[in-house]
Amino acid sequence: MENSHPVVILDFGSQYTQLIARRIREMQVSAIILPCNKPLTEIAAVKPQAIILSGGPSSVYDPAAPVCDPGVFDLDVPVLGICYGLQWMASRLGGKVQKAERREYGFAELEFDASSLLLQGLPSPLRVWNSHGDHVVEVPAGFRVTGRTENAISVIENSTKRWFAVEFHPEVRHTDRGAEILHRFVFDVCGIQPNWFTPSFVQSSVDEIRRKVGKDRALCAISGGVDSSVAATLVGRAIGDQLTCVFVNNGLLRLNEFEKVTQVLRSQAHLKVLAVDYSERFLNRLHGVADPEQKRKIIGEEFIRVFEEEARKLGDIPWLVQGTLYPDVIESVSVKGPAATIKSHHNVGGLPPDLKFKLLEPLRELFKDEVRAVGRELGLSEDMVSRQPFPGPGLAVRILGDVTEDRLRMVRGADAIVVEEVRRAGLYRRYWQSFAVLLPVMSVGVMGDARTYANAVAVRAVESEDGMTADWAKIPSDVLTRISTRIVNEVRGVNRVVLDITSKPPGTIEWE
Ligand code: XMP
Repeated sequence: MENSHPVVILDFGSQYTQLIARRIREMQVSAIILPCNKPLTEIAAVKPQAIILSGGPSSVYDPAAPVCDPGVFDLDVPVLGICYGLQWMASRLGGKVQKAERREYGFAELEFDASSLLLQGLPSPLRVWNSHGDHVVEVPAGFRVTGRTENAISVIENSTKRWFAVEFHPEVRHTDRGAEILHRFVFDVCGIQPNWFTPSFVQSSVDEIRRKVGKDRALCAISGGVDSSVAATLVGRAIGDQLTCVFVNNGLLRLNEFEKVTQVLRSQAHLKVLAVDYSERFLNRLHGVADPEQKRKIIGEEFIRVFEEEARKLGDIPWLVQGTLYPDVIESVSVKGPAATIKSHHNVGGLPPDLKFKLLEPLRELFKDEVRAVGRELGLSEDMVSRQPFPGPGLAVRILGDVTEDRLRMVRGADAIVVEEVRRAGLYRRYWQSFAVLLPVMSVGVMGDARTYANAVAVRAVESEDGMTADWAKIPSDVLTRISTRIVNEVRGVNRVVLDITSKPPGTIEWE
């Protein structure tokens, strides 16, 4: 690990760990997440100026509970514990933690002392977001309790050592002024200077890619999405036509997407793009397959086969560019927390690890919004970089039941209408995703005095920060009206439109 990062977040398995990193990076400070059991020498090697101990699902008194090297308290940098991080800190330093009689889950009112160094300048009380079953009953020597909720000690501080801990989650949006609390810790308590800027990221990445690749050739599989497009553009900026991009049309892309993305990458990013159409082959393989997992498997396998065939034709290319993002990387290093298993299927459309390439992953330290910023910096249009995420298996997982050419036509047409109307209402960027799903349901309708018996489409729109959790979006009724009218009028074979009002959890965003 050659880079230094002012903030190191030690991960005890919380579903919110990534959010902590995000909040810090939103302050233009680079933060890295390391598993809590990382050896101390490796933690020290990134030269942290602050350490944050994340939450986690365990109880500190469980013998198998995760711990980190207590040497982190000797690095002479401020430490902030959050939830499990507080409990571990308190018990490790001589305090006492117990199972709470009343679990605190959800909102609580935090009352705190004006003398709190961490919360200085904020108004007491604050509404904070809690999620814990254990709490601190005795604080370690040298600590003061500076904040409480009705049921628990909520903030403790050792201002001499600059060790702080909170029972609530400042990183989630539900906590009032949560970002300001982290801001205070990073800038006022730790004295860290902002160090993460998009232009310098682009320049240092370009330098590093050139140094690594030299005169070699590189290959990039374009999926049509934002990540692989930005990764390819960045690498293209560094090594020009030593890079060849392969864009496989699997026949499952959105309306005009194959043509549009190819054209943009050629004209805006000046990339050498080999655009190959394998729609028929994918459709043939999907014939008669209704099971979602089976669909995903077939599409994943077929993609690898096609990509290998195309790569072979191009001769010997040692480097492979991948649009891996930070959240994908974290999941593979993180101790197993509740967050770790949710997205296991998401490498569909990816490549197997045994391909004989050396990997180039220039975005592996970035979050999605940062990737978009890099894309803009590289001159890609807003239209291109602000596109909503799209699953690797494409429209196949938005057609429930058999994937046929006719059903693809229907879901594609309906999807284009949803997106167009959402854009027209100025809501496209506010929603994480908005799309149509073709249901395996026929129902009766009436059009122009005639009875119809045709398909139903569901409209799905969600607001989310990272796709891990999501709220169903309250699309304004006039927009819904236009969507529904247009779909039934314009998409032949559809006579009914319904609205999906399920959040995640319990629903997933995609229907399959
Ligand atoms: P779910 O449906 O699990 O999806 O709530 C969460 C987010 O991930 C996207 N998604 C995928 N992305 N390959 C991808 O690259 C996939 O196989 C895949 N499946 C789901 C989904 O669109 C949503 O943004």
